[in-house]
Amino acid sequence: MARGKFYITTPIYYPSDRLHIGHAYTTVAADTVARFKRLQGYDVFFLTGADEHGQKIERAARSKGKEPQAYVDEIVASFKELWRLLQISYDDFIRTTEPRHKVVAQKVFQRLYDQGDIYRSTYQGWYCTPCETFWTARQLVDGKCPDCGRPVELIEEEGYFFRLSAYAERLLAHIEAHPEFIQPVARRNEVLNFIRGGLEDLCVSRTTFSWGIPVPFDSRHVIYVWIDALTNYLSALGYGTDRDERFRRYWPADVHLVGKDIVRFHAIIWPALLMAMGLPLPHRVVGHGWLLVEGGKMSKSKGNVIDPYDLIAKYGVEAVRYYLLRELPFGADGQYEESNLVRRLNSDLANDLGNLLYRTLTVLEKYGEGVVGEPGALEGPDEELIALAQVTPARVAELVEQLQLAEALAAIGQLVSRANKYLDETAPWSLGKNPERKERFATVIYNVLEVYRFVTVLLGPFMPGFPPRVWPQLGLDSHPELHTFDSLRWGAFPPAVRVVKGEPLFPRLEGEI
Ligand code: MSP
Repeated sequence: MARGKFYITTPIYYPSDRLHIGHAYTTVAADTVARFKRLQGYDVFFLTGADEHGQKIERAARSKGKEPQAYVDEIVASFKELWRLLQISYDDFIRTTEPRHKVVAQKVFQRLYDQGDIYRSTYQGWYCTPCETFWTARQLVDGKCPDCGRPVELIEEEGYFFRLSAYAERLLAHIEAHPEFIQPVARRNEVLNFIRGGLEDLCVSRTTFSWGIPVPFDSRHVIYVWIDALTNYLSALGYGTDRDERFRRYWPADVHLVGKDIVRFHAIIWPALLMAMGLPLPHRVVGHGWLLVEGGKMSKSKGNVIDPYDLIAKYGVEAVRYYLLRELPFGADGQYEESNLVRRLNSDLANDLGNLLYRTLTVLEKYGEGVVGEPGALEGPDEELIALAQVTPARVAELVEQLQLAEALAAIGQLVSRANKYLDETAPWSLGKNPERKERFATVIYNVLEVYRFVTVLLGPFMPGFPPRVWPQLGLDSHPELHTFDSLRWGAFPPAVRVVKGEPLFPRLEGEI
């Protein structure tokens, strides 16, 4: 059953403010992949956390009259509460203010300095504090940050530099030899162009503020927050300490899932650091699109932030997870609209998914005493339905492996639609009235319920609260062996099981919006 290890990460979020629905998207997507891999029997390690240092956090704390540590503690508590509400199954939550992280970040810095990959020099450059990024004059657009368009500050100081330029050729060679390393391909091309445009050495220390991890051999400097942050993927595994079992078991990462804005850090700086340390590179850096709202990117200053806590309270976690995962095609941006959430909830979840079970159990209780019969000979549309069910698990697994989660949900949705159509074609409500058609009635019901078992197992990673509500209705609560990915072989549904129809799984929302 064991299929090897699978290490997946989310970015670690800045606790400068509460999280919005865009952040929730990244974490829900990573959680779904982690859960799917566990379902398939992989030994999964799923990491998330908080990126707590840097000038931005320090300023945010001071503006509220708080000490940075007290400020981040409060916000990180709200992150954890959100992840609990969204049923995020992380295996570890790393905070960059934890001693276990600081030790590793300092070790990495020290080692790179000792071997000459970090050196001391003078720096003059433009700094964008919201993005925590240095720019050269040439990179600025109209004198502003090329990423976010906000003003930058001129900074000149003594600092430590990472020899990024020395790794440009090796990076290019790696990216060219491993087409899957950066996905999707549009992001890969951006990174390739960026490297071909020339890489400059990177200033990796700061002296103008103190909220950071001290450079181990020069405590007037703190480590640049992106170097600090990227090492979380190693520190959470105990790398470089005498408790490095996780590191030995899980490194290299299989997937770093990140938003498109931070692909460059993960696909240039991070692999260069790893090369310098002689460590294997992550298998994939996957950059997803943004969830946009009217007026573009969500931001506090625009006042267009969508609060996930409110949405969950209003629609429930399953609807919110489903919507996020179904709405954004792989790698592309998506437009957030509450009316689309309601539409999806009504059509996909209430009409298609919920009704399929409700209709089937209703006829079975009415004409078959609620007991699943032995299926007989196949006829009519049976084979087509069964064939689709049989290919769906592998198809969904392949799409999840490619991080194509909206497409994976669409594939499950196709099976649900086919089964609804099958009910219309076979009309068990008529068969049930005819004593001579008992066997046909049993076959039709069996086929639909077996499809529903497949669908329930496959949807579990996307909506973890769904299967526990379905199993008792299908009479399969005490059959955990039929809840696994490997059990998705046609015909495993045991006849003679008694079903228990419950309330509709997803009530329709009428006139809510
Ligand atoms: N702290 C850094 C990451 C360090 S990882 C070593 C950071 N933090 S962040 O909180 O600003 O953003 C975290 C993630 O949220 C990024 O991947 C970003 O793309 C994602 N998103 C922020 N807004 C988003 C949307 N509106 N839509 C989708 N994802 C969004 O960057």
